[in-house]
Amino acid sequence: MPAVVVRVEKTADFDAITSVVDAAFGDPTVSAMVAWLRESPGYVPELAFVAEEAGHVVGYTMLSYVAVEGTDRRVLMLTPMAVRPDRQRRGIGTALGRAALAAADERGEPLVVVEGIPAYYPRFGFRPALDLGLLPPTPNIPEGAWMAIALAGYDTALRGRVVYPAGFLVP
Ligand SMILES: CC(C)(COP(=O)(O)OP(=O)(O)OC[C@H]1O[C@@H](n2cnc3c(N)ncnc32)[C@H](O)[C@@H]1OP(=O)(O)O)[C@@H](O)C(=O)NCCC(=O)NCCS
Repeated sequence: MPAVVVRVEKTADFDAITSVVDAAFGDPTVSAMVAWLRESPGYVPELAFVAEEAGHVVGYTMLSYVAVEGTDRRVLMLTPMAVRPDRQRRGIGTALGRAALAAADERGEPLVVVEGIPAYYPRFGFRPALDLGLLPPTPNIPEGAWMAIALAGYDTALRGRVVYPAGFLVP
């Protein structure tokens, strides 16, 4: 099996990323969200990662900033996470998640939130975000899906409701 390399996304990858995200989620709403995020103030180009295998993009993840209500602080949100269906269950998602969290840690970020599969994210150290005093942006996130991970720069004073950017629609 060819080696998988995780690296920061480039403009030239955007079409391939769209294909991978569309294939992973089965519809184009999530890749539309990625395009929207890239144009938003929360986008951090160096925190968007592709997994590449034999020169092809086979996986993608991104961290972008969201606000914490009542503070002037921003925290990172992990979304989306996608691996091409024929390359799933080979550790590619794990490698992408670890790379993104390591990069956030290196920047001194306090934490990362995710709205995702409760059975998947604990492997990275994610736990219920309420444990860290972080309330969900909307009441309709299924129980267990709202998670956070504290990084080395964690600050216990950073609590409150997470607010998604205006116009951001989670598919
Ligand atoms: C979720 C996803 C990114 C995982 O990527 P991956 O490369 O397959 O993940 P890894 O190989 O690192 O880990 C595989 C493990 O993840 C877990 N896993 C994968 N998908 C899962 C799911 N939908 N629900 C629960 N656990 C899941 C399994 O436990 C699996 O372990 P196993 O092979 O022992 O059963 C990938 O399956 C995907 O793109 N899914 C469709 C899009 C999606 O749902 N993204 C996440 C939205 S929050």
